[in-house]
Order: sequence, then C-alpha cells, then structure tokens
Amino acid sequence: MGKRVVPFGVIGCGLMGKEFASAAARFCHLANVDFEPRIVVVCDANESAMQWFKDNVPSVTHAYTDYRDLLADPTVEAVYCAVPHNLHEQIYTDIIQAGKHLLGEKPFGIDRKANEAIAAAIRENPQVIVRSSSEFPFFPGAQQIAKWVNEGRFGRIIEVEAGFWHSSDLDPTKPINWKRRRATNGEYGCMGDLGLHVLHLPMRFGWKPTNVRALLSKVVEERPDGRGGAAPCETWDNAILACEVKRADQQFPMVLSTKRIAPGHANTWFIRIQGTEFSAEFTTKNPKQLASLPYVPGGQQAWHIVDVPYKSAYGTITGAIFEFGFSDSILQMWAAFCDEVVHGRDRMTQPFYCALPEETAGSHRIFTAALDSHRTGSTVTVDWEGLK
Ligand SMILES: NC(=O)c1ccc[n+]([C@@H]2O[C@H](COP(=O)([O-])OP(=O)(O)OC[C@H]3O[C@@H](n4cnc5c(N)ncnc54)[C@H](O)[C@@H]3O)[C@@H](O)[C@H]2O)c1
Repeated sequence: MGKRVVPFGVIGCGLMGKEFASAAARFCHLANVDFEPRIVVVCDANESAMQWFKDNVPSVTHAYTDYRDLLADPTVEAVYCAVPHNLHEQIYTDIIQAGKHLLGEKPFGIDRKANEAIAAAIRENPQVIVRSSSEFPFFPGAQQIAKWVNEGRFGRIIEVEAGFWHSSDLDPTKPINWKRRRATNGEYGCMGDLGLHVLHLPMRFGWKPTNVRALLSKVVEERPDGRGGAAPCETWDNAILACEVKRADQQFPMVLSTKRIAPGHANTWFIRIQGTEFSAEFTTKNPKQLASLPYVPGGQQAWHIVDVPYKSAYGTITGAIFEFGFSDSILQMWAAFCDEVVHGRDRMTQPFYCALPEETAGSHRIFTAALDSHRTGSTVTVDWEGLK
C-alpha cells in the first residue's frame, strides 16, 4: 500500500522530541495504516540538542535554532512542539498562524490565559488540526475501559479515581531543572506537568467537575543548582483534587492526583471507576492486567483479572500475547494524530482521537480552581463559562 507521507518539523529536541523521532522510525510496526510521519526539519534553541537528530534521523534536511525559520519552510505540513511551558503560548500560536497542523505538548500553555490565547489562534485558523499530546489512554487496558464507559456498562457511578504518580523527585540530590521553576513550568507545578494525562479520559467522558477542593504540597524545598550551590524548588510536587461531578443523570465524587513524589512509583497512570452494575480498574503499574467486576443484585462481588491482549486503537505486527509499553502508547498516539491530519476526524481508521484543545481548556479551568482552593482552604466552583 502506498503511504501518504506527512512531513513534520520538530520544535524542541529534548526528551519528548526524541520520543517522537523514535515513534516515527517505528511506523512500520503499525498494520494497515496508509500514512506515516517523516521528520524533515528540526529546531532547538540549543544547537547541540539537535546533534542526536542529525546522527539518527536521516530524513532531516535542515536544523534551525530559530523556530520561525522552521515555520517558513513550505515543506513542513505539521509540527510537533515539545518545549518548556512558558514558551507554549508564543510558539503554538505562531505555528497555528503559519497554517501548520500541531501536536503540542501539554499543558498547552503555562496558565489559563496562555491556553485561551492558543484557543483564539485556533478559532482564527479552523483549517489547522491542533491536538495535545496525551498517550496513556492508548494502553489497551485504558482503551477497554473507554469502550465500557461508552457502552454505559457501569450503571450508576459510585466514584472515580484517576492519577499519575512518579517518584523521580524523591531523590533530593537530583539537580534542579526547568520543571521546578515557576517561570518555566508555571504556578500549576505538578498539575501542569502531569494533570492532562489524568484528565484526558474524564474530559472525554464529559465528567466535568462542578467544584474542587485541592491539597497541594511541596516536599523537597531545594535542590543542587549544578554550580555547587542549592536552588529553591518553586513548584508543587504533589496535588490531590477532590472533585464533585454533577450531571443531569447522576452525581459522583472524582479524586484526581498528580504526584512527582510517590515512593515506589516510576510512571504510574491509573483510572478506577466504580459503579452499581460494573467496576473497572487499569494501572500502568501492571500494564498487562485489567480488572473488572460485573455485578447483578444479590450476586457475588468478584474481581476478574485478565491479561489484556496487545490491542490498542491501531492494529500492529505484534502478536496478541506480547506486552504493551510506554513507547507503544506514544506510537499509537502519533498514529491517531497523523490519521486525523490525513483523513479528518470523521474518516479516521478508528474513532479514538488525540486530546482536544477544549479538553486542555477544561484541565486549565480545573487547575486554576485548584490553586484558588489551596490558597483559600475552601471548595471552589470550577468556572465552565464559555466552554462546551
Ligand atoms: N507526553 C509526555 O509523556 C511528556 C513527558 C515529558 C514531558 N512532556 C512535555 O513536553 C514538553 C517538553 O518537555 P521535555 O521533557 O521534552 O523537556 P526537555 O527539557 O527535555 O526539552 C525541551 C527542549 O526545548 C528546547 N527549547 C527551549 N527553548 C526553545 C526555543 N525557544 N526554541 C526551540 N527549542 C527550545 C530546549 O533546548 C530543550 O532541548 C513540555 O511541555 C512537557 O510538559 C510530555
């Protein structure tokens, strides 16, 4: 099958820029897709960050230190942008105004104001496809839970819990980086870093919290500054958000947590939904296992644990008994984005699309209310004014 090539520019050649390059190189892993990304141009303000691309990505023809040069390149159809949060507003709006499709990294703006500026640029350029990176819902267990929600399997929802936990910051000797500074990471701290991952599925399901009570904590106060001294860690390490979801048909509590310091966790993303007729749980801690508990009145309450097959949104060459991992979820997310660029949302090969700008806007409304809640020690109403 001849594949439609989507020529990409990458802005930000750090950790995530390389993950995309690796996924793009592995598109042959996907079965029966008629498209593939090709990275033709890269940009990083730090010249040396692009060396890895020059060494490993033969399709790269140009490397720029100014992203405006990349945007002026007519061969670039779509852009992946993975830069610190303080740069999202300016660079994302410039990408959109240049008419390039964009997969941007979360949180899609350092704060609500920046997120709204990006949304305004999207409204002015409706022909451009703009989506946010969020890969965990592509794990097979998460895909199955999304199907169960769409089928209305849970009955009346009793409660929902979702979180993203890691422990990389438990080590106080880990040097400071931009993610611990308010100017580059934002006042949201761990919520901006990790929160869209947690909210992507709840937003997709329409579970918009009416109000939130937030508990935010800083655990490690300062870190080595790399010059023999110490620098203050200015951002929140952990956040627990107790939310109330009120819908026409039902009302339930939803507890969301984002933790940079959760001892023993590497990159644990999870969702648990308990309902009167069905409950389910998936965690990347046990990426092969999916737990479910069907219930009929008077019946037994027994959890069923199955090894989920390697079956995400897009088919692959991998046998069903093999394990699915982080880089597989990134590959699936990239397939969904390219599918939408090539075919449009209504004609995608499968129906699960990447996180929408509106879903990032929902996350900003919740994080903004959470900051207010922590400051005042009270439950704060989430402002959904103007958001569908
Ligand atoms: N989806 C995920 O799982 C995931 C994981 C980690 C980070 N992220 C997100 O990805 C984004 C980047 O994070 P990262 O961990 O890759 O950071 P990083 O620090 O590893 O890389 C960022 C790169 O941006 C470059 N940069 C800075 N200013 C620039 C400019 N003006 N023009 C071009 N390049 C510039 C830096 O030199 C650096 O190479 C953030 O939004 C972060 O929240 C997402």
